[in-house]
Amino acid sequence: MHKSEIFNYQDGNLHAESADLGAIARQVGTPCYVYSRTAIEAAWLEYDDAFSDRMHEVFYAVKANDNLSIIKTLHLLGSSFDVVSIGELLRVLEVGVEASRVVFSGVGKSVQEISRAIKLGIGTINIESLEEFERIEAVTSELRMSVNVAVRVNPDVDPKTHPYISTGLKNNKFGVPIEDALELYKRIVTSRWITATGIACHIGSQIVDVEPILEAVKQIVLLASGLDTLGIKIKTIDVGGGLGISYNDEQPPKISSFVSALLGVVPPNFKIALEPGRSIVGHTGILLARVELVKQTAYSRFVIVDAAMNDLLRPSLYSAWHDIVTCDEKSAAEIEGASLCDVVGPVCETGDTLATGRKLSVLEGDLIGVLDAGAYGAVMGSNYNARLKCAEVLVQNDSFEIIKARQSFEDMVKTEREYLISE
Ligand code: LLP
Repeated sequence: MHKSEIFNYQDGNLHAESADLGAIARQVGTPCYVYSRTAIEAAWLEYDDAFSDRMHEVFYAVKANDNLSIIKTLHLLGSSFDVVSIGELLRVLEVGVEASRVVFSGVGKSVQEISRAIKLGIGTINIESLEEFERIEAVTSELRMSVNVAVRVNPDVDPKTHPYISTGLKNNKFGVPIEDALELYKRIVTSRWITATGIACHIGSQIVDVEPILEAVKQIVLLASGLDTLGIKIKTIDVGGGLGISYNDEQPPKISSFVSALLGVVPPNFKIALEPGRSIVGHTGILLARVELVKQTAYSRFVIVDAAMNDLLRPSLYSAWHDIVTCDEKSAAEIEGASLCDVVGPVCETGDTLATGRKLSVLEGDLIGVLDAGAYGAVMGSNYNARLKCAEVLVQNDSFEIIKARQSFEDMVKTEREYLISE
C-alpha cells in the first residue's frame, strides 16, 4: 500500500485507514505513534507472495519496530524473525513464536546470549567472525548441544546509502571478509556441535538501488558453489534486509520486483531467506504531534511541537527527511502560500529538529503528523530530558487500539528510586 492510501483525508481530517487521527490524538494524547495493521500485513504478504513456489523464509527484522503487537501481527501471518539481542529473542517468544523460526544476527553476541539462545532452541545463529565461531564452539561443547549457523560474509559492496547504515564495506565492523569465508566453513565442518546450513549477508539499510544487493548475492552464490566442490552443502542463502522506502523522492523498486530480481540470481536449489525491517513497517507508521507554539523571529519561523528527538531520532542522527503533514485538510490546502518553517521539539539541543524549511500553515494547538515513522522510530526512543516514551496505537479499518501505553513518570524512575542513595 502506498502511504497516500494509508494516510488520507476524509471529511477534512487525516485518517489512518478509516480511523480519524484527530480522535486518536484526543483520546491517547500526543506525541503518539499510529500504525496501520492492514498496511503492515500487505507489505509482509507482498514479500511472501512474490516467491510463489520458490523455497523461502521471510524473517522480519525486529529491530525496525519491536512492539509486541506488531510482532504478533506478523507472527499470525506466518513470519519468521531476525533478532540481534536476547531481548529481541524474548520479545518474539513472548507472543508465541517458536525459537526455531528465529535467526540471531549481530556482531557482538555475548557468551550468555549465545548460551541462552541455544538452550531456547534458536533456529540459526549468523556468525560474524572467526572469534565468534570459537566462542560458539566453546559454548556448544560445554552445553553439549548443537546449533545451526550461517556465516555472514562481508562482500565489500557499496550499498550507496547513508554511511551510518552501510554495513557491507570491508572497513565496516560487520561480517567475515568474503575471501576468508571458505576457511571458516572448513573449520565449521570439523566442529562436533555446529552445522553450517547457510550463508548470509546484509550490506546496509535504506537501499534504493538494489544492484549492490544483487551483486553481493551473486558473490554468495559463487561462494556456495566453491563450498559445494569441497563437499560442504549450503541450503539457505540469507540476503539480509535493506530495501529502502520513499521518504522524499527516492524511488525504490516495489517489494515484488525486488524479489523477482533475487529469484533471477539465486539458483532454485537454495532456500532464500530475507530479513526485511523498514520495507515492512516504515511507511505504515505516523508520529502524531501537537503544535505547542509557533515562534516567529526576524530570521526563522519555528513550529515547536510536542514530539522531539527522543521520540524520533532519525532526523537528528542521519539528517533524515520525513514528510510533515497537517491533520486538518484546510491547512494542507493553504500550504502554497505558507511560509517556510523549521519543525522542532522542546529538547534543549539545536539538533532537536524534525524538519527544516517546510511550507506549513499551522497554529498553536494544531495536530501534525510525521510520515514514514513506522521503522526505527519508537524503537530508537529515549528518556532524554526526562521525557516519557510515547504511546503507540494500531489501526485496522476504522478501529484502533493502544498497543503501548504512554510511559508514566513512575515507570521512568522506579529503577532509580529503589536505589536512591540515602544521603
Ligand atoms: N538484518 C540485519 C543483520 C540488519 O543489521 C538490519 C538492519 C536488517 C536486517 C534490517 O534492515 P532493513 O530492512 O530495515 O533495512 N536506524 C537506522 C537503520 C539501521 C539498520 C540496522 N540494521 C535508520 O533509522 O535508518
